[in-house]
Amino acid sequence: MTTSDKKIFASIAQNGFFDIEVDPTLDLFEEIKRLKKEKNAVLLAHYYQESDIQDIADYIGDSLGLAQAAAKTDADIIVFAGVHFMAETAKILNPSKKVLLPDLRAGCSLSDSCPPEFFARFKSKYPNHIVISYINCSASIKALSDIICTSGNAKQIIDSLPKDQKIIFAPDKNLGAYINKQSGREMVLWNGACMVHEIFSIEKIAKLKQKHPNAKFIAHPECEEIILSIADFIGSTTQLLKYTQQNESKEFIVATETGILHQMQKASPDKTFIPAPPNNNCACNNCPHMKLNTLEKLYLCLLYEQPEILMEEQLRLAAKKPMDKMMELSKQFGLIA
Ligand code: 13P
Ligand code: SF4
Repeated sequence: MTTSDKKIFASIAQNGFFDIEVDPTLDLFEEIKRLKKEKNAVLLAHYYQESDIQDIADYIGDSLGLAQAAAKTDADIIVFAGVHFMAETAKILNPSKKVLLPDLRAGCSLSDSCPPEFFARFKSKYPNHIVISYINCSASIKALSDIICTSGNAKQIIDSLPKDQKIIFAPDKNLGAYINKQSGREMVLWNGACMVHEIFSIEKIAKLKQKHPNAKFIAHPECEEIILSIADFIGSTTQLLKYTQQNESKEFIVATETGILHQMQKASPDKTFIPAPPNNNCACNNCPHMKLNTLEKLYLCLLYEQPEILMEEQLRLAAKKPMDKMMELSKQFGLIA
């Protein structure tokens, strides 16, 4: 290893991300393709990633699809173009693989809103309850849960439980409130939320709907109740994408992170997609964590096989149990193969 490589590894170990320049003359698309092949690596990307990363990914999907892709892959290395809890989930499901995240700082405000020590105390106040946690949480929260769900299977999982089963739902209060309303339950909700989905402006969306009277307004269930109350369709990122492909409308106002618009536009080039505006001066909503990943970091990550997700085996096994339950139920419901 050269002195310069040693410095790079030391910096990664200390900071969790690459702090070096990439040769600007490199064709990063070609380099990433070459490294993937050479190292038998698979690149999994969430729909909220920047367009270039989506275009070079081997699999693009929502949290449920990505978890399944991570569990099934026979690659030696999984490069996760997403956020920390997603890469962690891949490691939980596939411990023999090397799991890489291009920037370890790519966290999630929703996951961060549920610290395990506070949640353990909260849980102890409800002894007869089971815990259902949204996948957007840390491995430690997963380990404190009975079943994990995603926005793509939450309702079906909760509907499959006996009506009198007492439930704590964490960490997303908006998804929890939405499921409570849909299923007529009174799950106890942890008070967490996503910084991206909480700031849509109802006034600006109402104005946009007036300007585009034929547009369908579609929203992710992490949005607040008031936003969901005016939506024509509510679903996970994959479900929103499918809706735009199948619905005959030519215009859609989309209330979720803007990365998904890339796939919507690719799938339906003749349709118009308008990002729903937030209550600040921006025209659309980007997740600052998701957008920490770049093509440059992806290239460096493959080249140096760093930063890597590591996990204690005891924690992994405890977090895997509720994940396995989710995968098993999702198969039963025909949501995954
Ligand atoms: P889905 O991909 O499951 O729709 O979740 C969206 C999200 O916020 C991921 O961070
Ligand atoms: Fe977390 Fe929200 Fe970003 Fe998804 S969009 S990673 S829930 S902060």
